[in-house]
Amino acid sequence: MTIRVDRMTSSTVAIGIRGVSHQFGEEGDARYVRALRDTSLDVARGELLCLIGPSGCGKSTLLNVIGGLMAPTAGAVEVAGKRVAGPMPRDIAFVFQENALFPWNTVFENVNLGMLFQGVPRAEREARAQRALAAVGLEDFAQHYPAQLSGGMRQRAALARALSLETGILLMDEPFGALDEQTRMVLGEDLSVLLARADKTIVFVTHSLGEATFLADRVAVFSARPGTIKEIIKIDEPHPRKPDFVTSAKFTAIRNELYALLHDEIRKTVAETSVSAAREGVP
Ligand SMILES: Nc1ncnc2c1ncn2[C@@H]1O[C@H](COP(=O)(O)OP(=O)(O)OP(=O)(O)O)[C@@H](O)[C@H]1O
Ligand SMILES: [Mg+2]
Repeated sequence: MTIRVDRMTSSTVAIGIRGVSHQFGEEGDARYVRALRDTSLDVARGELLCLIGPSGCGKSTLLNVIGGLMAPTAGAVEVAGKRVAGPMPRDIAFVFQENALFPWNTVFENVNLGMLFQGVPRAEREARAQRALAAVGLEDFAQHYPAQLSGGMRQRAALARALSLETGILLMDEPFGALDEQTRMVLGEDLSVLLARADKTIVFVTHSLGEATFLADRVAVFSARPGTIKEIIKIDEPHPRKPDFVTSAKFTAIRNELYALLHDEIRKTVAETSVSAAREGVP
């Protein structure tokens, strides 16, 4: 399936996902899973694309394939016109749900580490770390250790580490998923501000329809496993998005549309899970 986006030319495509399928194991194996099927999509430069879909439909798999952490069993991904064949730390940074900060390093040291692996010279590392910490509002916590921060602050630190790499692409897998709703809302607003300022392309996986509606320029809704894109919803609203967007009729209408699209797919997933559980004698 090919999905075309209006007015996108090769120079404005940051990520080209071309017929990507992925399976784990071989057919007949007890743990064989078809995770993704024939997924194609162009992500535009500077756009925030949200991926939503039922649990297990292959969202994280697709993110790993885009980031070069996993080779797809069919199809390919192109970044800046080049085929992704492995991790591309100069082009792509990740933020995961669990922030993976080193507990024995301060926030400043944690932010520095990513750049150290990239071979960024010391003086530039310090300048970039300061900029990234200021961008996420953590400049006063540079010398704190992760355990001395709240969950939201730890995710900000993880975001600062990713920002300091100054990649054009950020891949975020439920980055605010472990946080309470209010903290999540504030981080979403901050991310929208960052997006308005920086020329970043972001692919963002979330289970929250509200978060997707608030953040995304487009939302790709996935079908049940093996996942593929069922529908793409465009959200025409400039960044930075304001808190009152959340209470607008437009927001509610988009959120409801996403809910309706997802609902059937989630039902299919639940039905399949209960059938296989019954087959295996799970109550
Ligand atoms: N390393 C792996 N080995 C074997 N199977 C895997 C592996 N990673 C994922 N899978 C399977 O692939 C399918 C898709 O997994 P994936 O993590 O991409 O889903 P997801 O859409 O991110 O789900 P969630 O919303 O729950 O995070 C699942 O059925 C999962 O069991
Ligand atoms: Mg996932």
